[in-house]
Order: sequence, then structure tokens, then C-alpha cells
Amino acid sequence: MVVIGGGLAGMRAAVEAAEGGADVAIISKMHPVRSHSGAAQGGINAALGNREEDSTTAHTFDTVKGSDYLADQDAAAAMCDDAPKQIIWLEHRGCIFSRLPDGRIAQRPFGGAGTPRTCYSADVTGLVILHTLWEQLERFGVKVYEEYFCTALAVDDGVGSGVVAYNMRNGDLELVTAKATIFATGGAGRMYLKTTNGYASTADGMGIAYKAGIPLMDMEFMQFHPTTLKENGVLMTEGARGEGAHLLNALGERFMFNYAPNKGELASRDVVSRAEWTEILAGRGIDGCVLLDMRHLGREKILERLPQIRELALDATGKDAIEEPIPILPGAHYTMGGIETDKWGATRVPGVYAAGECANVSVHGANRLGGNSLLETIVFGARSATHALDYIKKIGDVKPSEKTLANERDRVGALLARTGGTRAPALRRAMNETMSANTFIFRDDAGLAKAVDDVTLVRKQFDEDAYVMDKSKTFNTDLVGAMETDFLIDASLALAAGARARTESRGAQARTDYPERDDANWLKHTLAWRQPAGPPRLDYSRAVTITEFDPQVRTY
Ligand code: FUM
Repeated sequence: MVVIGGGLAGMRAAVEAAEGGADVAIISKMHPVRSHSGAAQGGINAALGNREEDSTTAHTFDTVKGSDYLADQDAAAAMCDDAPKQIIWLEHRGCIFSRLPDGRIAQRPFGGAGTPRTCYSADVTGLVILHTLWEQLERFGVKVYEEYFCTALAVDDGVGSGVVAYNMRNGDLELVTAKATIFATGGAGRMYLKTTNGYASTADGMGIAYKAGIPLMDMEFMQFHPTTLKENGVLMTEGARGEGAHLLNALGERFMFNYAPNKGELASRDVVSRAEWTEILAGRGIDGCVLLDMRHLGREKILERLPQIRELALDATGKDAIEEPIPILPGAHYTMGGIETDKWGATRVPGVYAAGECANVSVHGANRLGGNSLLETIVFGARSATHALDYIKKIGDVKPSEKTLANERDRVGALLARTGGTRAPALRRAMNETMSANTFIFRDDAGLAKAVDDVTLVRKQFDEDAYVMDKSKTFNTDLVGAMETDFLIDASLALAAGARARTESRGAQARTDYPERDDANWLKHTLAWRQPAGPPRLDYSRAVTITEFDPQVRTY
């Protein structure tokens, strides 16, 4: 079994596979503990009920409501039901969660949750879990091929048989044959100019699966996190608001209660981001921002529970959150769309799985709740490996896909052989600019049409003209950056085309020309199938699974 990506979903999958007796390896373009999962701050949801009464049904309901009823409810229930077990699993492997005075795991309030349900390690939760899983990889001796960049999925006779990976140390393309392949490559936030995402969040798994004929689902739903630093897009955790921080406009008003009378700052992220942007557009911002005010929490609480964001804000802005409010604005944060899977992480191609942000298991629908992303990585990392373990027992050997390797040698060779043209960073910049201008918080047909046209042109320019100046074989970051841009272009086009076609507002997609949710016509998933040139073919054959919760008007 091969796992592509060494973040939380990838490591959790690999540990589950190793515990289950599989011969498993991770391929990662970076060292696992440098993965973007380490930037996750505020916590991981589970209905432990350590602070107040809670239940997995309540967690499922909040998740489904948060999704604006687009999540598949069987998948959401699977995630929420598994959550307490997975937290205990982490706890038993040494994960250092913050504690209540009596020693139980502490849980903080988070947006869109009916009760405090978010387990945390101060504001470095992702990093702490990442190290816990790294220790487990070491324990099981899982081989990690780091500084390998996966370029293609091998599918022969409709069955996955591994991948091709580019060895960044020597420039070789290598075939990795495996009965099961699990993509866990993270999100696509680098479609935008400003994002909370690390430089590595470049849609790799999504782009690879998509090129191999697997659809991307619900790509139009991009989450804009309400609190990111103006200076550099870095995340200021929702945990700050969970601990009681306020959002203020230029008049010093806590404006969120005008938009979410019951929840205020702890409404779901789509609601809070829209409210902030509305305040800014109405002229009640300060230099294009609103303020995150933590002063009243006091020095001791900030240093105990939110030390990292205080430091990040101090470094970037020179402002100390203990003494003054921090200018923030919404920023691209989480790709709710991704590789279509079932609730076990299985794609339509036998032997190919996806878990974590690159996947769309359909637990987040149109808007993800904070704290459900770390949960998703752990639950669906484990579940995809469980399914894959069962699958590999049932099938015979798979043959090395020499054809896929030859194709990749030709494709990458052709890219390197070009002696002039447009450099990939310029193409990426053009894509970033139109995505940021036209597919941000408020969208309309004219803007989305422009985004589709602009990115279609970027696609064509990339295919005909992309130029890699560096021809060397050792750590050719120019080449790797171009291949990442290739994946981002596909993800952007799927997002813009899906958003334009969906003539309604739901969750993170707010259309000024179609301001209402339209369940009669749009309570369905978008499947995007890659076309060799131009926008994807969109298909709406996958219905939303509704089990317990009929769609209701969504208020906070
Ligand atoms: O705000 C945060 O700490 C982010 C959490 C998440 O995206 O789940």
C-alpha cells in the first residue's frame, strides 16, 4: 500500500495500515512533520461531553447544519460517531491535549457548535497531533520517501496500481507499484493570492486523480476563514473567539450580533466572513480590515491558551494582542471540495482512496465547521486504510504500469525540453489574481464567467507555452513549481465553473445574483470531470444523502 502525503491524514492511514499488517510506505514532497497540518491551531471536535452534555447525534446535526445541508448525512454521522474513539486513540498514544483541572481533556467552544466540543492543545493542536503520529510511524518502522513529488496515478483496466513519483534529489521519475493508493495531499488554498495555507497546498492529489479520470466534487465551496492577518494571510485561530475574543468594526461595535443574534462571533465561518466583508464594504472597516479584540481575556489566558497567535500577530504586525486589537480579514482557508469518495474514502477506481482535505467524503458540504478538519484527517485516514487493508487481501498482484511511467517521462521531458515561453510563476499569478478577484466571498455571474475565461486561457497557455528555465536534475524547484501550478489550474477551473453553474447561495458560495438557497434545484452535488482543454464537464447525478435531518432555514 502506498500513501501519498505525510500530513495527518496520510500518517494516520499509514499507521492504521501498518498496525493491520500491511507493507506500507509514505511518499511525500516534504518531511511529514513539516506538513501543512502542523499549521492547524484551534482543535479537533469530538462529542466527549467533558464540559457539558453532548452526543454524537448533536455533533452530526451541527455538522449537517453547518454544511447548509449539502453534507451526506451518513458520512457526517460516520465521522462524528468515530470521533470520541479516535481522540482516545490519540490520547493513548501520548497526544498532549490541554486539560480541565480534574485532568479530563478540555474542550472549547467553536463556531456553529451547540456545545463546547473542540479538544485542543493550546493553539498548536495540529502540530501536537502531527508529532504524535510521527512517533507512531517510527514505532512501526513505516518507510517514508520524502522529497518525492507524485506526478501521476497508474490506472490499468480500470484498477489503480500505484503512482509515478519524481525524485527531487536526482530528477528521476520512478514507478511505485501498489495494490492500494491513498491520496492524502491536502488542499488547494494556493489557488488564491492570500491564504492561510502553506506553500505546499497546491491541489496535488486532486490534480492527479482528476487527470486519471476521477471526478472532483463540490469544488465551488471554498472556505474563507474569518480571522486571518492582513499582512500575510496567516491564521488567527477561531479558538480565540471560542475563548471569548470579540470582533469589532471601525465604530468599536461588536457587529456580529446584527448578523447572528444567537451566536454572535461563534456563528459558522461562512456567516462570520460574510458579515466582516459586509462591514468592510459598507465603510465600517479600518484600512480594509476589522479587529479581533482579545484584550479582555487577559495576559494569563492568552499566554496559556493562545500563545502562538499572539506571537504570530506580534511578528507580522508589531501589535501585542494582550494590549491592542489585531487587524484581520477573511482569507482562503479550506477546500471543501475534493476527490469524490464514499464514506470509506474509496473513489470510483478500485484500489484508489483519498482522505483529509484532498478528499470530498461529503462531511463538510457547503461549509465546514471549525475543528472538523483535524477530525476528518484522523477518522478518514484510519477508515480509508481499513477499507484498503480489506481490499488488498481480496485482489491478486497488480502489474507495474510501465505505460504510465513512459507517459510521464514523455510529458515531463517535453516540459523540460521547451526552450522558451511563459514561466509558470507568471501563469500562477494570473490564475491567483482572477480567482481572488472573482471567486471570493461574494460572487456573481459576470465575475464567475470572467474567472472561467481567464483560467481557461491560463490552462491553454500552460499546455502550449509553460517554460521551465532550470534544466538541472537536483532539487529542481522550478519544475516542481510548474507541476504544482498545473494542478492548481485544474482545481481553479473546477471551482470557477462549478460556482458559475450553481445558481444559488449555499454555505460558502454567496451569489449576489441568486441570494437564496434553492433546495428544489440545487440540493445535489457537483461532479466535475476533467476535459483535455477548457472547463470541466459538470454532472449532477450524485444526490445528497439525507438520513435524519431535513433541510431547514439556517440561522445562528
Ligand atoms: O481556526 C482554527 O483554529 C482553524 C481550525 C480549523 O480550520 O478547523
